[in-house]
Amino acid sequence: MKATILNEFEMGLVEPQDTDETWFLDWVLRSPKHAGDHLACSYKTFGAIASFYEEEILLGNITSVKEYFGGMGAHALFAQELFQPTDHAVTDYSAAAVEHLQRVLPGNVRVWQADAYDSETPWMADIAILDFGDLTVFKAQQDQPRGKLLDTVFGMHPNAVTITDIAARYLHLQKRSYEPLLGEGCCESYEEYLERFSRLLEDRYGYVMLQANYTRWSTVMAFVPQDTGAAHGEFHKYVSPLPALVIS
Ligand SMILES: C[S@@+](CC[C@H](N)C(=O)[O-])C[C@H]1O[C@@H](n2cnc3c(N)ncnc32)[C@H](O)[C@@H]1O
Repeated sequence: MKATILNEFEMGLVEPQDTDETWFLDWVLRSPKHAGDHLACSYKTFGAIASFYEEEILLGNITSVKEYFGGMGAHALFAQELFQPTDHAVTDYSAAAVEHLQRVLPGNVRVWQADAYDSETPWMADIAILDFGDLTVFKAQQDQPRGKLLDTVFGMHPNAVTITDIAARYLHLQKRSYEPLLGEGCCESYEEYLERFSRLLEDRYGYVMLQANYTRWSTVMAFVPQDTGAAHGEFHKYVSPLPALVIS
């Protein structure tokens, strides 16, 4: 079995074992359309970072990438192509994911098992990739594990941070949780929620939301430091022209 992502990136897949442990690949095999759209959004958002820092990347001033939620390794392949890092580290807490990542990623990518919320896991890299499978503004609060990880990662002042939000699907049910954090009317539409959530993160960390791409399931946002002079970017709704992920 093989996955082809965006008609370009290929990887062999081993059927997940019937164990208690489910990981990203289970979802990919169940919903290749949704998983593919998410990955297409990531590729576009990573592309915005690569364009923004084109010169710095060419000059070798941006060389390291750290991914905290490795999954099937699609983001890692995108990062290899777009950022050409000389130091690329990928972790995931799932043993099955780590086994898969070690099999499919190029040998220069370091992969190991680690809980993203363990205080030993984060360290400085020029680009930090946080493909949370479950982040919302509620979980991004600073007394919550995801919020603490955001504090640590932004606190190391990387050149870029990417963050995945998944509030879209149940937004209409979350008024009571999200309005105290984002203000009245934040659940009127996913665009409104995203605009307010991104401004909250900008104010909290001194970063600017460079670009985001979203579907009805998830959003991938890129943040760069305010002192780069970047302007607050746009949220692009992704409409898939072709299946972004094909399992064959
Ligand atoms: C949305 S998927 C990541 C997909 C990945 N970006 C890719 O391109 O394939 C989220 C991944 O996070 C992992 N994960 C969930 N909680 C974690 C944690 N606390 N620490 C590390 N990994 C975790 C899951 O095993 C899953 O593989």
